[in-house]
Amino acid sequence: MKGLILSGGKGTRLRPITFTQAKQLVPVANKPVLFYGIEALIEAGIKDIGIVVGDTKREIEEAVGRGERWGKDVKITYIEQEAPLGLAHAVLVAESFLGEEEFVMYLGDNILKSGITSLVQEFRERKPNALILLTEVPNPQMFGVAELCDGRVVRLVEKPKVPPSNLALVGVYMFDHHIFEAARSIKPSWRGELEITDAIQFLIEKGYEVIPHMVSGWWKDTGKIEDILEANRLILEDISGRIEGQVDADSRVNGQVIIEKGTKIINSVIRGPAIIGEDCEIINCYIGPYTSIQRKCRLLGTEIEHSIVLEASEIIDIGSRIDESLIGREVKIYKCPPRPLVYRFMVGDKSEIGLK
Ligand code: DAU
Repeated sequence: MKGLILSGGKGTRLRPITFTQAKQLVPVANKPVLFYGIEALIEAGIKDIGIVVGDTKREIEEAVGRGERWGKDVKITYIEQEAPLGLAHAVLVAESFLGEEEFVMYLGDNILKSGITSLVQEFRERKPNALILLTEVPNPQMFGVAELCDGRVVRLVEKPKVPPSNLALVGVYMFDHHIFEAARSIKPSWRGELEITDAIQFLIEKGYEVIPHMVSGWWKDTGKIEDILEANRLILEDISGRIEGQVDADSRVNGQVIIEKGTKIINSVIRGPAIIGEDCEIINCYIGPYTSIQRKCRLLGTEIEHSIVLEASEIIDIGSRIDESLIGREVKIYKCPPRPLVYRFMVGDKSEIGLK
């Protein structure tokens, strides 16, 4: 069985962060979202993985490489898609890589807590033509939606205005080669994309076997800032603390906290779950729960929680607490007035915010 990860597309809902980086590389608990998908496939025993890439091909290749960090037997192949013309279009672009083999398609911006090992096993044993994952959501109009009858899938619709159920399609699918025939037979949707939802609907209409599986643990499509922060919270909830950096005698570290090597914590309170990457300086700060700070950041006189701070950023003497924020790479935030009581930032790479 092969793996296909979709990592093209534009990520407009995550701007300004995605002006300068691929949305699949935004880190959750200091690890790019895309790596969660790669690792879920590898854990399920799938080591021959194709990654569909678009405009952000170069940075994705730089971050992932040939797969050697996950072991010698992992092989990554990049497949170029000329434009984000839809998930079913991406499948067609990957046809020569996939050949006749069955495959798992994993959307590169999705994270699935329970992994996919048991699903892959179920697919291998039952040998349907497709297996789809479903979960109940409060806002089904934002997703592909399934209608079931006696446990069988009868209809799938992409982002319906009036959803037939609250069962969203999760971004992990398993297919045999019949999906190519389906993807070739459908027409672009109102948004101009060849929808995988329509291709699966085609399989159902032609009498192919499509089996649904309800997701047990949590699942996140990290397409929006609230979802990235929520995924960060959910992942951090499960970490085990470890301190490899230096914490001085005037600091306190409570709960599950990871402090990577080369990092110095001085006169600060760190309340987990939280992760602070390598070579950071945290001085006179309060770092609250659900915060991920990537490497080489410098925080001075700052209170922050429930936030993600990307590589090499500096936050200095903010008079108010920073909460629910996504702060890009090499950002500088300094001397903000102590009003309002809480700041919420969504800041793109290399921005500068502060009073002169
Ligand atoms: O997350 C689950 C949802 O994903 C499903 O419920 C929907 O049925 C499905 O269509 C999809 O909807 P999205 O609108 O969230 O898909 P998005 O455009 O965000 O693309 C998902 C991933 O696939 C993302 O990593 C970008 C990549 N992609 C997307 C397109 C359209 C490609 O690689 N090529 C493409 O042409």
